[in-house]
Amino acid sequence: MTSTSPTLSVHFLITAGPTREALDPVRFLSNRSSGKMGYALAEAALAAGHQVTLVSGPVALPRPATATFLPVESAQQMWDTVRQVVTTQPIAIAIHCAAVADYRPRFAAAQKIKKNADTLTLELEKTPDILGSMRHVFGFSGILVGFAAETENLVANAQSKLQRKGCDLIIANDVSRTDIGFDSSDNEVLLCHADGYTEPLPKMTKHALAESIVQKCAHLRPS
Ligand code: PMT
Repeated sequence: MTSTSPTLSVHFLITAGPTREALDPVRFLSNRSSGKMGYALAEAALAAGHQVTLVSGPVALPRPATATFLPVESAQQMWDTVRQVVTTQPIAIAIHCAAVADYRPRFAAAQKIKKNADTLTLELEKTPDILGSMRHVFGFSGILVGFAAETENLVANAQSKLQRKGCDLIIANDVSRTDIGFDSSDNEVLLCHADGYTEPLPKMTKHALAESIVQKCAHLRPS
């Protein structure tokens, strides 16, 4: 799976941060992603001499100076932007770290929703699956890496996502812990490879972890 040969410079696509799904002009559904893990990956890939396109949801982090930076808000905008990038750029390695909303309000109100009723029921619909579109919709044939943010059955859920979404590698992240995962400076993950091999990486800073992941991805071969 790995080798000691020198790494060539390649073009990475990295997604990072949360998405925001509008309820009305001033409210949205979102999640706790800070963007730290995805931005650390972008910085590590740049530091290793690679080209990086970073597609980012709204975060409060400085953008990596030499990356091509494509800001988005919603899952639909991220899907459109990723499609545009992978169908026009020679992306060799795509790492999907963004915490994309799985559901969005079916209808976003044109005006601010008024507080008239005691209860309010939201109807949600599925968002497009960006990682799941990479192979079969966008025709991506490079190295495909996803994350799996899980609160239970970490390995089984991660392996199921790897197969369903056609990934070469899934980075399984236990997000039930508060010292790693969402909005922390550290992370601890399990790498699940397409051949069934699993590799635990111990708790470390997101920057150190990102360096390790970028190095491993650069030596992967499509499965
Ligand atoms: O941003 P931080 O605060 O640093 O936190 C880092 C993190 C916890 C967000 C990150 O390490 C992480 O786990 N990212 C994946 C979050 C996620 O949405 O996981 P998921 O298991 O719900 O999704 C599986 C994969 O499908 C992910 O690669 C995700 O980017 C992708 N996906 C999900 C839904 C969707 N509609 N489109 C997608 O592409």
